[in-house]
Amino acid sequence: MTGLPAGVAIRRLGPEDVELFNTLSEADNLFDEDPSVAPSGALTPDGARDFLADPSVLFWVAEYGSLTVGFLHCIVQRRRTAGPWAEILLMEMGVHLDWRRQGIGSALVSAMEFWMAGSDVLEVWVPANTYAVGFYLKSGFIADEGSILVKQLH
Ligand SMILES: CC(C)(COP(=O)(O)OP(=O)(O)OC[C@H]1O[C@@H](n2cnc3c(N)ncnc32)[C@H](O)[C@@H]1OP(=O)(O)O)[C@@H](O)C(=O)NCCC(=O)NCCS
Repeated sequence: MTGLPAGVAIRRLGPEDVELFNTLSEADNLFDEDPSVAPSGALTPDGARDFLADPSVLFWVAEYGSLTVGFLHCIVQRRRTAGPWAEILLMEMGVHLDWRRQGIGSALVSAMEFWMAGSDVLEVWVPANTYAVGFYLKSGFIADEGSILVKQLH
């Protein structure tokens, strides 16, 4: 992939990557806008394997040797209308705070777009946090109408 720092490579995770995935989950606060938040925490090995084996889950990492320096997680949403069979929702992405502004986020988005082009998927949505809006605009996203709302059951 062009534009990456030397030694950094991007690949999509599969069910064999449970250990890497859970190691990332235990330190993913370092990939957040605010690294003082708690990390997500690991899943059980079976839970992580099921997550990574789910065909609706797309999960890429950027690696420098054995070090994970970025990730991007999407879900594939099948469409009910004519046209492309699915669209994707970019659920979360992050670049380790020591590795930002070196093109890793852009390269992760390119990997996602490469998958889209090869899968007849033309649209990707992202519920962006304010911090990342400039990055998404630079990556070609545009603002859409309406608001994103959320409801949590207690
Ligand atoms: C947003 C994020 C993923 C960008 O990753 P990155 O590897 O630093 O991005 P890149 O180096 O590929 O940036 C490409 C271009 O996007 C723009 N950009 C990147 N980060 C930006 C920011 N925080 N604000 C405004 N523009 C930004 C710049 O134009 C940059 O090019 P430049 O460095 O030549 O000026 C990273 O800042 C991050 O992990 N943030 C914390 C987590 C987060 O906010 N995730 C998004 C959740 S919705």
